[in-house]
Amino acid sequence: LDLGVLISGRGSNLQAILDAIAAGKLDARVRLVISNRAGAPGLDRAREAGVPTAVISHKDHPDRASFDAALVGALGQAGASWVVLAGFMRIVTSVLLDAFPARVLNIHPSLLPAFPGVSAQAQALAHGVRITGCTVHLVDAGTDTGPILAQAAVPVLPDDTEERLSERILAREHALLVHVLAAIAAGHLTVHPPTTVAARARV
Ligand code: GRF
Repeated sequence: LDLGVLISGRGSNLQAILDAIAAGKLDARVRLVISNRAGAPGLDRAREAGVPTAVISHKDHPDRASFDAALVGALGQAGASWVVLAGFMRIVTSVLLDAFPARVLNIHPSLLPAFPGVSAQAQALAHGVRITGCTVHLVDAGTDTGPILAQAAVPVLPDDTEERLSERILAREHALLVHVLAAIAAGHLTVHPPTTVAARARV
């Protein structure tokens, strides 16, 4: 898999991908990491791994479509054929989705369709659910709404804080994202535009 990874901040999911590749557990290459924020710590993680980086700020573009066109241009030039949104805090448009049909993945820290959008872990605590988790899904035009590829459940403990719960979910995110990418790389999971998911084996 030739990956383009889009980030906005910490980049721990990016790190999980880089570590899995380095360990020979994921047959993929990260062709480019793009951040919409210049100071994103994830950019250092990419540089550390010798992966090309780019900063493309949404603030330098008049609208979402032209921002996405810049992303598509950079991703295409780098040779990416799959795109992973790994803590990328921007809503993407059909400009990106049409350039990579059924080839854009997102990782989200809840069991979708519960708790889409920001602060999913706080939403779970506020709602009092006993089980939450994380989801890897294909991205469509909505916010955290695309076809689900895989999920992992994480119990909410009685004395959980947002921070502790987020930490436990995050550990599962890293494993789940790598698991899905490895399944795609191995041909165990094939996805067809616009929304059909064909799993040859359960992932
Ligand atoms: C993760 O919780 C991810 O699910 C959400 O944003 C966070 C990104 O964390 N979309 P990181 O930048 O990968 O460390």
